Amino acid sequence: MRIDLEGRTALVTGSAQGIGLAIARTLAACGASVVVNGRSAGTAQRAARDVRAHVPGAQVTGIAADLATDDGSAAMLDAVPDVDVLVNNLGIFASEDPLEIDDDTWRRYLEVNVLAGVRLTRAYLPGMMERGWGRVQFIGSDSAVAIPAEMIHYGVTKTALLASRAGSRRRPPGRASR
Ligand SMILES: NC(=O)c1ccc[n+]([C@@H]2O[C@H](COP(=O)([O-])OP(=O)(O)OC[C@H]3O[C@@H](n4cnc5c(N)ncnc54)[C@H](OP(=O)(O)O)[C@@H]3O)[C@@H](O)[C@H]2O)c1
Repeated sequence: MRIDLEGRTALVTGSAQGIGLAIARTLAACGASVVVNGRSAGTAQRAARDVRAHVPGAQVTGIAADLATDDGSAAMLDAVPDVDVLVNNLGIFASEDPLEIDDDTWRRYLEVNVLAGVRLTRAYLPGMMERGWGRVQFIGSDSAVAIPAEMIHYGVTKTALLASRAGSRRRPPGRASR
């Protein structure tokens, strides 16, 4: 299969390492101009260098922004006002005793794993629709449907992403159902 993304811009969130970085390399190999992201300039630039090393001639920009915050999202939107491909890869996980997960931790998981992607989708999707082409991808997990006992907070956020995907199927006005 040959996927041609020449002339397209792709943003992969939380891509300074791991799955996001692998996705960024692949999108670059398909010809997209790629934006990689981590919270520090050091990790974002290192990821950009990694993509260039794997895909000679790749157009890559590293943007440091904490996308779990309003300020970080605003900085990203300033630096990259439009994208054609948005990969909401950013996600955190750790094992915790379910009865020990405090409110701050729940809030952080919802902010990082759900709201960051929702916020960017809200900002970028209208431009894709206006231009008549675009893709938004959320990176899920089997933890969405088989929630591990030690990662209930993580699983709940991944189940929420499944709900947002189902909700994105457009309904005619006035035909909303519960
Ligand atoms: N790994 C798995 O086994 C697995 C399995 C199923 C699904 N997934 C999903 O796949 C996705 C990627 O997982 P991964 O394991 O590849 O991640 P990872 O290796 O832990 O990488 C996390 C990345 O996110 C960046 N990051 C963390 N917080 C950030 C923030 N607030 N704003 C911007 N960047 C931030 C980190 O860079 P900095 O430290 O520089 O910020 C790092 O590059 C997640 O959605 C995860 O739920 C992973």
